[in-house]
Amino acid sequence: MLDEAVDFIKMYYMENNLPVDQLEERLKEVEKDIRKSGQYTHTSDELAFGARVAWRNSNRCIGRLFWQTLQVKDQRSILDEETIYEKLLEHIEFATNEGKIRPTISIFEPQKVRIWNHQLIRYAGYEQEDGTVIGDSDSLAFTKECIKLGWHGNGGQFDILPLVIQVENRKPRFFDIPKEYIKEVPLRHPEFDWFTDLHLKWYAVPIISSMKLEVGGITYGAAPFNGWYMGTEIGARNLADDYRYNMLPIIGESMGLDTSSNANLWRDRALVELNIAVLYSFKEDGVSIVDHHTAAQQFKRFEANEASANRDVTGNWTWLIPPLSPATTHIFHRPYDNTKNLPGYSHQKRPY
Ligand code: ARG
Repeated sequence: MLDEAVDFIKMYYMENNLPVDQLEERLKEVEKDIRKSGQYTHTSDELAFGARVAWRNSNRCIGRLFWQTLQVKDQRSILDEETIYEKLLEHIEFATNEGKIRPTISIFEPQKVRIWNHQLIRYAGYEQEDGTVIGDSDSLAFTKECIKLGWHGNGGQFDILPLVIQVENRKPRFFDIPKEYIKEVPLRHPEFDWFTDLHLKWYAVPIISSMKLEVGGITYGAAPFNGWYMGTEIGARNLADDYRYNMLPIIGESMGLDTSSNANLWRDRALVELNIAVLYSFKEDGVSIVDHHTAAQQFKRFEANEASANRDVTGNWTWLIPPLSPATTHIFHRPYDNTKNLPGYSHQKRPY
């Protein structure tokens, strides 16, 4: 821990051009604390810096140009489930900002708090007797856990799951999110009137709550964070993957395409129209979203900024390329070094 703490504290003082004598002092203090108790505590400013750099280091993220704008809510002092729930609702409201989404992270006490949800807002998935799924198949296991805890789902395609909060070794508690807090976008298409009959929608803000944040040797197990969506996440994956909402066949048929052929590219045509509908609907409702071409251009600016700051950009090519027309972006045409730097976000073992 001491080595990681020293590296991080140095980085914080250097990058922010803070006085060297203060750095020496802070290092002494941190070393003393770690030697005495095996731990130390970040200042709120160190924590905010760490969370932002962790975003900058997120190899899978194409949206990193905006890493410095991350809004950081320091919630480390809260250790009761009900107040954590209130703070999560505050996060949702602040981040949603009536559609003008603000990238935000709420950071809770490092070791004692766990949020069981994958994202704060997510649709439930229910397995039917015949093996088919209603709702989001990505949520099957978590939905079962919620039901075990006493939650009752409506069995619909788009049921919002409750927040499940665990403090220390206590039994996790679930809380429903009042619907005023949840912004959703009903999907329609600029030319196809029939598109509304599909009754598709998606929620506005993806708030990842299952990953840990590692800063200077301290692991924050509950640190939900959000940006805004890139359209393809919804239009080319969530609603399109055959193991998720699997909408391409019905869209292809509604377009009057022959879905028995591969070579007429009906899947590709349906995919493009679905993605047009996603971007069009979010834009029309004033909800922040970015198309993959603009996102790639922004990522290029991020790469240039990092080069000017004499930092190497690391990246995971397989995640950075968009799932739609990847070769139309510059990302496709160059390699990325997937070395993982700290501070960083990473996966942690599921609590259930
Ligand atoms: N791909 C995930 C989803 O579709 C969200 C991941 C985070 N995305 C983001 N734009 N910050 O729900």
